[in-house]
Amino acid sequence: MSAQKIIITLDGWSSCGKSTLAKALARALGYVFVDSGAMYRAITLFFIRNQVNIADPVAVEKALEAIQLQFIFNPARGASDILLNGENVEALIREMTVASRVSEVAALARVRQFAVQQQQRLGKEKGIVMDGRDIGTVVFPHAELKIFMTADKDIRVQRRLKELQAANPSITADLVRENLEQRDHLDATRSESPLRQAEDARVLDNSNLSPAQQFEIAMAWAQEAIDQANG
Ligand code: DC
Repeated sequence: MSAQKIIITLDGWSSCGKSTLAKALARALGYVFVDSGAMYRAITLFFIRNQVNIADPVAVEKALEAIQLQFIFNPARGASDILLNGENVEALIREMTVASRVSEVAALARVRQFAVQQQQRLGKEKGIVMDGRDIGTVVFPHAELKIFMTADKDIRVQRRLKELQAANPSITADLVRENLEQRDHLDATRSESPLRQAEDARVLDNSNLSPAQQFEIAMAWAQEAIDQANG
């Protein structure tokens, strides 16, 4: 009999390396990696393009009815790109225009319901690593391994700056810090599924860890959870 697969959730603050770790874990375990933030970003891109008034529930509903999200594996990245109505928007959703609006869109109950339903469907077969804000608390409350990631804010700003500067050399640390603080605040204080640590989550503070070190810690936790699931 093949080994029982598990669900691994990775929640935490913006830009603390959740996706990098989730991707590495998925690759090592032969699991599927899903970036749930990409879904909120793609929805936000659609809302921006179509000037959807987020204060109007009818307009929001109509917009969601017109949105189809899919993931398609991109071997060059070793992860899946997100498709919005068939268009690959993986690069576009990382731009500041989307980053500065995504938290308000992700705060809408109807938008979250729409995204969570699809996320739960993706996890039906288990064998999945999903990162986000509410994955261990709302999407998969019974996940076998929940990791809550955190890192010092200055370190997060520097990491994010480096990432964004590759595409936009004029971006400044102040701008990145402002966006990050605003998102952290909105994500943690919204009434719908705010970012919070699940009671049974294991905390990983990676401020002073290399990617290899954090991978080693998380992989040991994953192995432990898999062994337990296989009793
Ligand atoms: O992880 P990220 O920075 O790509 O996420 C983009 C935004 O989406 C972020 O502001 C919080 C929101 N988000 C969320 O509310 N719930 C999730 N499960 C994932 C992301």
